[in-house]
Amino acid sequence: MRLLVVCLGNICRSPLAEGLLRHHLEQVGLEDRVEVDSAGTGGWHVGEPPDRRTVRNAARHGLDLQGLRARKLCSADYHRFDWLLCADASNLSDVRRRAPAGATARHALLLEWAGMGQGAEIPDPYTGGPEAFEHVFTLVDAAARRIVARLADRTLPVDA
Ligand code: 4NP
Repeated sequence: MRLLVVCLGNICRSPLAEGLLRHHLEQVGLEDRVEVDSAGTGGWHVGEPPDRRTVRNAARHGLDLQGLRARKLCSADYHRFDWLLCADASNLSDVRRRAPAGATARHALLLEWAGMGQGAEIPDPYTGGPEAFEHVFTLVDAAARRIVARLADRTLPVDA
């Protein structure tokens, strides 16, 4: 399974979701069965590491995001990934609008896909204070745990 998390800048919410999903997948030994990546609908930060406030807050929780680099969503993503999981409704509407003909990836809100409520969004922390980044961490960590638990339930051991 291939999952792409999408937000606006690919420096706050989606790289955090990429890092947390990878971390929780590793905890249950599914890191080789599920591919995770992230991208932004906007290109302003392409090539940059995640926002320093996101990096600092994740590090407080023991998660290292420093190696990630921002990239922009591209048309190949609509074929390469099974799911494009969006941080908020505006990201989801951009993702839908840009879908190329013959796109195979499905689209959803990340929190909704994780079972955290219909229409649930990850608020953009970019103009907020430290508490906004911590709130995003709490939401995304809960979502990542729920998604990985569901995938682990459905995935038989390789030698079964
Ligand atoms: P993200 O946050 O979409 O969670 O990465 C943002 C990052 C940058 C900007 C907006 C939101 N920006 O306007 O540059």
